[in-house]
Amino acid sequence: MRSLRFENVSKSFAVEKDRRVAVLRDVSFELTAPGVVGLAGRSGSGKSTLFRLVNRLADPDGGRILADGEALGGGSVVDLRRRFVLCPQRAAFFPGSVLDNVTAPDWMTKRGEGDVARAEALLERVEIPPERWTSEPSALSVGQQMRVQIARCLYLSPDLLMLDESTANLDPHIAGRLLDDLARWAREDSRLLLHATHEPDKLRRCDRMLVLEAGRIVADGPPARLLDDERGPAAAILRAEAD
Ligand SMILES: Nc1ncnc2c1ncn2[C@@H]1O[C@H](COP(=O)(O)OP(=O)(O)OP(=O)(O)O)[C@@H](O)[C@H]1O
Ligand SMILES: [Mg+2]
Repeated sequence: MRSLRFENVSKSFAVEKDRRVAVLRDVSFELTAPGVVGLAGRSGSGKSTLFRLVNRLADPDGGRILADGEALGGGSVVDLRRRFVLCPQRAAFFPGSVLDNVTAPDWMTKRGEGDVARAEALLERVEIPPERWTSEPSALSVGQQMRVQIARCLYLSPDLLMLDESTANLDPHIAGRLLDDLARWAREDSRLLLHATHEPDKLRRCDRMLVLEAGRIVADGPPARLLDDERGPAAAILRAEAD
């Protein structure tokens, strides 16, 4: 993948008859691969909505989203969601073992039985001990469940991985190792990792950071510079959240 570009994207939702609330307002940016990009913003600022537009779980009211210069929406939505993968904050599983859940993108869509060796390698990568591979996901801790879900996302070898607070419940040491690994994964193969998080130390691991405030991009730049600028919007937002 080379780039993901938002051009003057807006999105609003109907809240009552004749009343709509703008959730994204004239959002423009371009991300170039390889890249690890943090997305920060208060609760309700529009982070998940932005991800949902990329995944075509919703469509913009105005503007365009382009991947490698082509507007999203030409091909099949299924193919798009296998290429641009959204890892939600809460894990959701299919009936079956942990291993079955990692290979699910194949067997659920009848593409094949699934590549078990590849799934096992990914479970090792996200530090799930082998004795848990045949367990039901519900028997795992919340942090382990999130890591199984990340393994399932990686199983697809996506061009773009969107982590929507997906590392919030992880042990900080495991999260640190996993984010280092994902950054390598993105850089080695010209992929994009887009990470919505409220945690400054995770934002600092990114190459670039976007800050959303009430649906607008209010800052875009190197995380250290934005976070260390005491009077800037990024520091203000994260300070307000810590209070
Ligand atoms: N389907 C919908 N219908 C109506 N309003 C919506 C819908 N989806 C999102 N919203 C509103 O859009 C705003 C942005 O929501 P969004 O989930 O994108 O925020 P967020 O930045 O991801 O917040 P958080 O950090 O809490 O996850 C919120 O005010 C939310 O209530
Ligand atoms: Mg959200």
